[in-house]
Amino acid sequence: MKKILNNIPFSVTLKYTQLAQEMQSKGIDVIRLTAGEPDFETPREVSLSAKKAIDDGFTKYTPASGIPELRKGIANLLKEKYSLHYDPAQIVVTNGGKQALYQAIYAITNPGDEIIVFTPDWVSYVPQIEMCDCKAVFVETDAEENFQPDVEKITEKITERTRGIIINSPNNPTGTVYSKKILEEIADLAIEKDIWVISDEIYANLVYEGTHVSFGSLGKAFDKTITINGFSKSHAMTGWRCGYVAAPIPIAKEIGKMQSHLTSNINSITQKAALKALTVDTSYMKEAFEKRRKIVSDALDDLGINYCHPAGAFYFFMDFEWVKEAYPTDDDLTMDLIQNYGLAMVPGSAFHKPWFMRLSYASSEEELQKAMGILKDFKQKH
Ligand SMILES: Cc1ncc(COP(=O)(O)O)c(C=O)c1O
Repeated sequence: MKKILNNIPFSVTLKYTQLAQEMQSKGIDVIRLTAGEPDFETPREVSLSAKKAIDDGFTKYTPASGIPELRKGIANLLKEKYSLHYDPAQIVVTNGGKQALYQAIYAITNPGDEIIVFTPDWVSYVPQIEMCDCKAVFVETDAEENFQPDVEKITEKITERTRGIIINSPNNPTGTVYSKKILEEIADLAIEKDIWVISDEIYANLVYEGTHVSFGSLGKAFDKTITINGFSKSHAMTGWRCGYVAAPIPIAKEIGKMQSHLTSNINSITQKAALKALTVDTSYMKEAFEKRRKIVSDALDDLGINYCHPAGAFYFFMDFEWVKEAYPTDDDLTMDLIQNYGLAMVPGSAFHKPWFMRLSYASSEEELQKAMGILKDFKQKH
Protein backbone atom coordinates (compact mmCIF):
# COMPACT_ATOMS: atom_id res chain seq x y z
CA MET A 1 0.00 0.00 0.00
CA LYS A 2 1.15 3.52 -0.67
CA LYS A 3 2.55 4.74 2.66
CA ILE A 4 1.35 8.30 2.41
CA LEU A 5 -2.29 7.17 2.38
CA ASN A 6 -1.89 5.96 5.97
CA ASN A 7 -1.22 9.51 7.08
CA ILE A 8 -4.12 11.08 5.27
CA PRO A 9 -7.12 11.53 7.54
CA PHE A 10 -10.74 11.06 6.57
CA SER A 11 -12.43 14.43 6.03
CA VAL A 12 -13.38 15.88 9.44
CA THR A 13 -16.13 17.93 7.83
CA LEU A 14 -17.68 14.74 6.52
CA LYS A 15 -17.24 12.95 9.85
CA TYR A 16 -19.39 15.47 11.73
CA THR A 17 -21.86 15.85 8.87
CA GLN A 18 -22.41 12.09 8.88
CA LEU A 19 -22.79 11.96 12.65
CA ALA A 20 -25.45 14.69 12.51
CA GLN A 21 -27.21 12.89 9.64
CA GLU A 22 -27.26 9.63 11.60
CA MET A 23 -28.83 11.41 14.57
CA GLN A 24 -31.39 13.07 12.30
CA SER A 25 -32.30 9.69 10.79
CA LYS A 26 -33.09 8.48 14.33
CA GLY A 27 -35.46 11.41 14.76
CA ILE A 28 -33.08 13.49 16.93
CA ASP A 29 -33.16 17.24 16.27
CA VAL A 30 -29.78 18.47 15.03
CA ILE A 31 -29.04 21.63 13.11
CA ARG A 32 -26.34 20.90 10.59
CA LEU A 33 -24.08 23.86 9.87
CA THR A 34 -21.13 21.73 8.81
CA ALA A 35 -21.28 21.48 5.05
CA GLY A 36 -19.60 23.72 2.51
CA GLU A 37 -22.52 23.28 0.18
CA PRO A 38 -25.20 25.79 -0.93
CA ASP A 39 -28.64 24.64 0.19
CA PHE A 40 -30.28 25.89 -3.02
CA GLU A 41 -31.51 23.65 -5.82
CA THR A 42 -29.40 23.63 -8.96
CA PRO A 43 -31.16 26.17 -11.26
CA ARG A 44 -33.94 24.44 -13.17
CA GLU A 45 -32.74 25.48 -16.62
CA VAL A 46 -29.35 23.87 -15.88
CA SER A 47 -30.96 20.55 -14.99
CA LEU A 48 -33.20 20.73 -18.07
CA SER A 49 -30.22 21.27 -20.34
CA ALA A 50 -28.66 18.11 -18.89
CA LYS A 51 -31.86 16.18 -19.65
CA LYS A 52 -31.75 17.52 -23.18
CA ALA A 53 -28.12 16.41 -23.53
CA ILE A 54 -29.19 12.86 -22.65
CA ASP A 55 -32.15 12.98 -25.04
CA ASP A 56 -29.85 14.29 -27.78
CA GLY A 57 -27.47 11.39 -27.19
CA PHE A 58 -24.65 13.63 -25.99
CA THR A 59 -23.33 10.70 -24.00
CA LYS A 60 -19.93 9.86 -25.47
CA TYR A 61 -16.31 10.80 -24.77
CA THR A 62 -15.51 14.47 -25.24
CA PRO A 63 -12.13 16.19 -25.74
CA ALA A 64 -10.07 15.61 -22.56
CA SER A 65 -9.86 19.28 -21.59
CA GLY A 66 -13.56 19.88 -22.17
CA ILE A 67 -15.89 20.70 -25.05
CA PRO A 68 -14.68 23.76 -27.00
CA GLU A 69 -17.84 25.83 -26.41
CA LEU A 70 -17.56 25.36 -22.63
CA ARG A 71 -13.86 26.30 -22.56
CA LYS A 72 -14.70 29.36 -24.65
CA GLY A 73 -17.62 30.24 -22.40
CA ILE A 74 -15.45 29.96 -19.30
CA ALA A 75 -12.73 32.12 -20.87
CA ASN A 76 -15.41 34.77 -21.63
CA LEU A 77 -16.79 34.61 -18.09
CA LEU A 78 -13.31 35.04 -16.60
CA LYS A 79 -12.74 38.05 -18.83
CA GLU A 80 -16.09 39.72 -18.19
CA LYS A 81 -16.38 39.04 -14.48
CA TYR A 82 -12.84 38.94 -13.22
CA SER A 83 -10.73 40.77 -15.87
CA LEU A 84 -8.72 37.63 -16.55
CA HIS A 85 -7.49 37.33 -20.11
CA TYR A 86 -7.25 33.62 -20.87
CA ASP A 87 -7.53 31.99 -24.26
CA PRO A 88 -9.90 28.96 -24.36
CA ALA A 89 -6.80 26.80 -24.95
CA GLN A 90 -5.66 27.77 -21.46
CA ILE A 91 -8.77 26.33 -19.80
CA VAL A 92 -9.12 22.70 -18.67
CA VAL A 93 -12.53 21.57 -17.42
CA THR A 94 -12.16 19.25 -14.43
CA ASN A 95 -14.18 17.11 -12.01
CA GLY A 96 -14.78 19.97 -9.62
CA GLY A 97 -12.28 22.49 -8.33
CA LYS A 98 -10.78 19.64 -6.33
CA GLN A 99 -9.42 17.81 -9.32
CA ALA A 100 -8.24 21.10 -10.82
CA LEU A 101 -6.24 21.77 -7.65
CA TYR A 102 -4.71 18.31 -7.49
CA GLN A 103 -3.67 18.38 -11.13
CA ALA A 104 -2.22 21.88 -10.76
CA ILE A 105 -0.11 20.82 -7.77
CA TYR A 106 0.98 17.66 -9.58
CA ALA A 107 1.93 19.59 -12.72
CA ILE A 108 4.24 22.09 -11.00
CA THR A 109 6.06 19.77 -8.57
CA ASN A 110 8.43 16.84 -8.33
CA PRO A 111 8.62 14.53 -5.30
CA GLY A 112 10.11 16.31 -2.29
CA ASP A 113 9.11 19.80 -3.43
CA GLU A 114 7.35 22.22 -1.10
CA ILE A 115 4.09 24.11 -1.41
CA ILE A 116 3.23 26.95 0.95
CA VAL A 117 -0.20 26.82 2.56
CA PHE A 118 -1.69 29.48 4.82
CA THR A 119 -3.34 28.28 8.02
CA PRO A 120 -6.19 28.10 8.84
CA ASP A 121 -6.38 26.04 5.64
CA TRP A 122 -9.08 24.21 3.74
CA VAL A 123 -9.04 20.48 4.56
CA SER A 124 -7.96 19.10 1.17
CA TYR A 125 -4.84 21.16 0.40
CA VAL A 126 -2.45 19.19 2.59
CA PRO A 127 -3.69 15.69 1.58
CA GLN A 128 -3.45 16.71 -2.08
CA ILE A 129 0.10 18.03 -1.65
CA GLU A 130 1.09 14.87 0.19
CA MET A 131 -0.50 12.66 -2.46
CA CYS A 132 1.87 14.39 -4.90
CA ASP A 133 4.76 13.23 -2.63
CA CYS A 134 5.42 16.84 -1.69
CA LYS A 135 5.53 18.71 1.59
CA ALA A 136 3.06 21.34 2.78
CA VAL A 137 4.86 24.22 4.50
CA PHE A 138 2.59 26.20 6.78
CA VAL A 139 2.49 29.96 7.13
CA GLU A 140 0.19 31.04 9.93
CA THR A 141 -2.27 33.87 9.44
CA ASP A 142 -3.50 35.60 12.61
CA ALA A 143 -6.97 36.23 13.95
CA GLU A 144 -5.79 39.72 15.05
CA GLU A 145 -5.06 40.48 11.38
CA ASN A 146 -8.40 39.04 10.34
CA PHE A 147 -6.38 36.14 8.85
CA GLN A 148 -4.81 38.27 6.12
CA PRO A 149 -1.44 36.76 5.12
CA ASP A 150 1.83 38.48 5.98
CA VAL A 151 4.37 38.57 3.17
CA GLU A 152 7.36 38.67 5.51
CA LYS A 153 6.23 35.43 7.11
CA ILE A 154 5.80 33.84 3.66
CA THR A 155 9.27 34.97 2.58
CA GLU A 156 10.82 33.33 5.65
CA LYS A 157 9.40 29.96 4.62
CA ILE A 158 10.62 29.97 1.02
CA THR A 159 13.44 27.50 0.30
CA GLU A 160 15.06 26.24 -2.89
CA ARG A 161 12.40 23.47 -2.88
CA THR A 162 9.43 25.85 -2.84
CA ARG A 163 7.46 25.49 -6.05
CA GLY A 164 4.28 27.32 -5.23
CA ILE A 165 1.91 29.07 -2.85
CA ILE A 166 -1.78 28.26 -2.57
CA ILE A 167 -3.98 31.25 -1.92
CA ASN A 168 -7.70 31.06 -1.27
CA SER A 169 -9.71 34.25 -1.31
CA PRO A 170 -12.57 34.42 -0.35
CA ASN A 171 -11.33 31.96 2.20
CA ASN A 172 -12.62 28.71 3.58
CA PRO A 173 -12.80 28.48 6.64
CA THR A 174 -12.44 32.16 7.61
CA GLY A 175 -14.51 34.02 5.01
CA THR A 176 -11.65 36.52 4.73
CA VAL A 177 -11.22 38.34 1.44
CA TYR A 178 -7.56 39.19 0.88
CA SER A 179 -6.78 42.85 0.33
CA LYS A 180 -5.52 43.99 -3.07
CA LYS A 181 -2.37 45.26 -1.37
CA ILE A 182 -1.55 41.83 0.03
CA LEU A 183 -2.30 40.12 -3.27
CA GLU A 184 0.08 42.55 -4.99
CA GLU A 185 2.80 41.84 -2.43
CA ILE A 186 2.36 38.09 -3.00
CA ALA A 187 2.56 38.68 -6.76
CA ASP A 188 5.85 40.61 -6.34
CA LEU A 189 7.21 37.80 -4.20
CA ALA A 190 6.18 35.12 -6.72
CA ILE A 191 8.02 36.99 -9.48
CA GLU A 192 11.11 37.61 -7.36
CA LYS A 193 11.38 33.99 -6.21
CA ASP A 194 10.08 32.49 -9.46
CA ILE A 195 7.35 30.39 -7.85
CA TRP A 196 3.80 29.53 -8.88
CA VAL A 197 0.69 30.90 -7.26
CA ILE A 198 -2.30 28.58 -7.29
CA SER A 199 -5.24 30.89 -6.72
CA ASP A 200 -8.28 28.97 -5.51
CA GLU A 201 -11.18 31.32 -6.28
CA ILE A 202 -14.05 28.88 -5.85
CA TYR A 203 -15.94 31.47 -3.71
CA ALA A 204 -15.24 34.43 -6.06
CA ASN A 205 -18.95 34.80 -6.73
CA LEU A 206 -19.65 35.35 -3.03
CA VAL A 207 -18.00 38.62 -2.06
CA TYR A 208 -20.32 40.87 -0.04
CA GLU A 209 -18.09 43.90 0.45
CA GLY A 210 -16.36 45.44 -2.55
CA THR A 211 -15.60 43.23 -5.54
CA HIS A 212 -13.54 40.10 -5.97
CA VAL A 213 -9.96 40.78 -7.06
CA SER A 214 -8.76 37.84 -9.08
CA PHE A 215 -5.05 37.28 -8.44
CA GLY A 216 -4.24 36.91 -12.16
CA SER A 217 -6.03 40.17 -12.99
CA LEU A 218 -3.32 42.13 -11.19
CA GLY A 219 -1.24 41.40 -14.25
CA LYS A 220 2.05 41.32 -12.40
CA ALA A 221 2.37 37.58 -11.89
CA PHE A 222 -0.14 36.44 -14.52
CA ASP A 223 2.42 34.12 -16.12
CA LYS A 224 3.03 32.46 -12.75
CA THR A 225 -0.68 32.15 -11.85
CA ILE A 226 -2.87 29.08 -11.99
CA THR A 227 -6.49 30.07 -11.43
CA ILE A 228 -8.93 27.53 -10.00
CA ASN A 229 -12.69 27.96 -10.05
CA GLY A 230 -15.87 26.00 -10.69
CA PHE A 231 -19.64 25.78 -10.59
CA SER A 232 -20.17 24.01 -7.24
CA LYS A 233 -20.58 27.08 -5.05
CA SER A 234 -21.61 29.71 -7.60
CA HIS A 235 -24.44 27.63 -9.12
CA ALA A 236 -25.31 25.16 -6.36
CA MET A 237 -23.88 22.37 -8.52
CA THR A 238 -21.76 20.43 -6.02
CA GLY A 239 -22.92 17.02 -7.22
CA TRP A 240 -22.40 17.72 -10.92
CA ARG A 241 -18.62 17.91 -10.48
CA CYS A 242 -17.56 20.73 -12.72
CA GLY A 243 -14.56 22.92 -12.03
CA TYR A 244 -11.77 24.32 -14.13
CA VAL A 245 -8.20 25.43 -14.15
CA ALA A 246 -6.90 28.37 -16.18
CA ALA A 247 -3.15 28.48 -16.62
CA PRO A 248 -0.28 29.37 -18.93
CA ILE A 249 -0.36 27.17 -22.03
CA PRO A 250 2.45 24.73 -21.06
CA ILE A 251 0.74 23.98 -17.73
CA ALA A 252 -2.76 23.77 -19.25
CA LYS A 253 -1.40 21.30 -21.83
CA GLU A 254 0.22 19.08 -19.20
CA ILE A 255 -2.93 19.13 -17.07
CA GLY A 256 -5.06 18.23 -20.11
CA LYS A 257 -2.68 15.37 -20.92
CA MET A 258 -2.79 14.11 -17.35
CA GLN A 259 -6.57 14.23 -17.37
CA SER A 260 -6.74 12.27 -20.64
CA HIS A 261 -5.11 9.36 -18.79
CA LEU A 262 -6.92 9.77 -15.47
CA THR A 263 -10.54 10.36 -16.37
CA SER A 264 -10.55 10.87 -20.19
CA ASN A 265 -12.84 13.87 -19.68
CA ILE A 266 -15.46 15.03 -17.23
CA ASN A 267 -19.02 13.76 -17.65
CA SER A 268 -20.37 14.91 -21.04
CA ILE A 269 -23.83 15.74 -19.66
CA THR A 270 -22.38 17.86 -16.88
CA GLN A 271 -20.46 19.84 -19.48
CA LYS A 272 -23.73 20.75 -21.23
CA ALA A 273 -25.23 21.68 -17.87
CA ALA A 274 -22.24 23.90 -17.08
CA LEU A 275 -22.52 25.56 -20.48
CA LYS A 276 -26.10 26.49 -19.60
CA ALA A 277 -25.06 27.59 -16.10
CA LEU A 278 -22.82 30.23 -17.68
CA THR A 279 -25.98 32.04 -18.79
CA VAL A 280 -27.88 31.74 -15.50
CA ASP A 281 -27.99 34.61 -13.01
CA THR A 282 -27.53 33.30 -9.47
CA SER A 283 -27.42 36.66 -7.71
CA TYR A 284 -30.54 35.59 -5.73
CA MET A 285 -28.34 33.03 -3.95
CA LYS A 286 -25.78 35.66 -3.05
CA GLU A 287 -28.52 37.99 -1.77
CA ALA A 288 -29.88 35.21 0.45
CA PHE A 289 -26.40 34.43 1.80
CA GLU A 290 -25.84 38.09 2.55
CA LYS A 291 -29.06 38.25 4.56
CA ARG A 292 -28.08 35.15 6.51
CA ARG A 293 -24.62 36.56 7.15
CA LYS A 294 -26.28 39.52 8.84
CA ILE A 295 -28.55 37.30 10.96
CA VAL A 296 -25.53 35.39 12.25
CA SER A 297 -23.24 38.38 12.77
CA ASP A 298 -25.96 40.31 14.67
CA ALA A 299 -26.58 37.31 16.92
CA LEU A 300 -22.88 36.65 17.56
CA ASP A 301 -22.33 40.34 18.35
CA ASP A 302 -25.17 40.18 20.87
CA LEU A 303 -23.69 37.06 22.44
CA GLY A 304 -20.20 38.55 22.55
CA ILE A 305 -18.70 35.68 20.51
CA ASN A 306 -15.71 36.90 18.49
CA TYR A 307 -15.31 35.93 14.87
CA CYS A 308 -13.26 36.70 11.84
CA HIS A 309 -15.00 39.34 9.70
CA PRO A 310 -16.31 37.29 6.76
CA ALA A 311 -16.44 39.55 3.69
CA GLY A 312 -16.96 36.52 1.44
CA ALA A 313 -17.84 32.79 1.10
CA PHE A 314 -20.49 31.41 3.52
CA TYR A 315 -18.65 30.71 6.75
CA PHE A 316 -18.17 32.25 10.17
CA PHE A 317 -14.93 31.26 11.90
CA MET A 318 -15.61 31.86 15.58
CA ASP A 319 -13.24 32.06 18.53
CA PHE A 320 -14.15 29.48 21.20
CA GLU A 321 -11.00 29.88 23.30
CA TRP A 322 -13.22 31.07 26.17
CA VAL A 323 -14.54 27.54 26.68
CA LYS A 324 -11.15 25.82 26.43
CA GLU A 325 -10.95 24.92 30.13
CA ALA A 326 -14.19 22.94 29.93
CA TYR A 327 -13.08 20.38 27.29
CA PRO A 328 -9.91 18.37 26.59
CA THR A 329 -9.97 19.21 22.85
CA ASP A 330 -12.13 21.12 20.39
CA ASP A 331 -13.28 17.76 19.04
CA ASP A 332 -14.86 17.10 22.47
CA LEU A 333 -16.44 20.55 22.33
CA THR A 334 -17.85 19.72 18.88
CA MET A 335 -19.25 16.38 20.09
CA ASP A 336 -20.88 18.05 23.11
CA LEU A 337 -22.49 20.67 20.89
CA ILE A 338 -23.84 18.01 18.55
CA GLN A 339 -24.98 15.41 21.07
CA ASN A 340 -26.21 17.57 23.91
CA TYR A 341 -27.22 20.82 22.22
CA GLY A 342 -28.19 19.63 18.74
CA LEU A 343 -25.85 21.92 16.83
CA ALA A 344 -23.26 20.55 14.39
CA MET A 345 -20.28 22.65 13.29
CA VAL A 346 -16.66 21.88 12.37
CA PRO A 347 -13.84 22.31 14.92
CA GLY A 348 -10.95 24.65 14.08
CA SER A 349 -8.43 21.82 14.53
CA ALA A 350 -9.63 20.46 11.17
CA PHE A 351 -8.13 23.64 9.69
CA HIS A 352 -5.02 23.71 11.93
CA LYS A 353 -6.60 26.35 14.16
CA PRO A 354 -7.88 24.62 17.31
CA TRP A 355 -10.49 26.27 19.53
CA PHE A 356 -12.14 28.04 16.67
CA MET A 357 -15.39 26.70 15.23
CA ARG A 358 -16.53 26.97 11.62
CA LEU A 359 -20.20 27.62 11.04
CA SER A 360 -21.55 27.35 7.50
CA TYR A 361 -24.52 29.65 6.88
CA ALA A 362 -25.54 27.80 3.73
CA SER A 363 -28.72 26.92 5.64
CA SER A 364 -32.21 28.35 5.97
CA GLU A 365 -32.81 31.53 8.00
CA GLU A 366 -35.04 29.53 10.32
CA GLU A 367 -32.28 27.03 11.06
CA LEU A 368 -29.76 29.80 11.59
CA GLN A 369 -32.11 31.53 14.05
CA LYS A 370 -32.49 28.25 15.94
CA ALA A 371 -28.72 27.73 15.92
CA MET A 372 -28.22 31.18 17.41
CA GLY A 373 -30.71 30.30 20.16
CA ILE A 374 -28.67 27.18 20.92
CA LEU A 375 -25.44 29.18 21.08
CA LYS A 376 -27.13 31.60 23.49
CA ASP A 377 -28.09 28.71 25.74
CA PHE A 378 -24.57 27.24 25.47
CA LYS A 379 -23.02 30.62 26.29
CA GLN A 380 -25.20 31.02 29.36
CA LYS A 381 -24.09 27.62 30.65
CA HIS A 382 -20.38 28.41 30.21
C1 LIG B 1 -11.64 26.27 -0.64
C2 LIG B 1 -12.23 25.25 -1.54
N1 LIG B 1 -11.61 24.97 -2.68
C3 LIG B 1 -12.08 24.06 -3.53
C4 LIG B 1 -13.23 23.36 -3.27
C5 LIG B 1 -13.66 22.33 -4.27
O1 LIG B 1 -14.97 22.33 -4.65
P1 LIG B 1 -15.48 21.43 -5.84
O2 LIG B 1 -14.54 20.31 -6.03
O3 LIG B 1 -16.84 20.99 -5.45
O4 LIG B 1 -15.50 22.33 -7.05
C6 LIG B 1 -13.92 23.61 -2.08
C7 LIG B 1 -15.12 22.83 -1.70
O5 LIG B 1 -15.52 22.72 -0.57
C8 LIG B 1 -13.42 24.60 -1.19
O6 LIG B 1 -14.04 24.89 -0.05
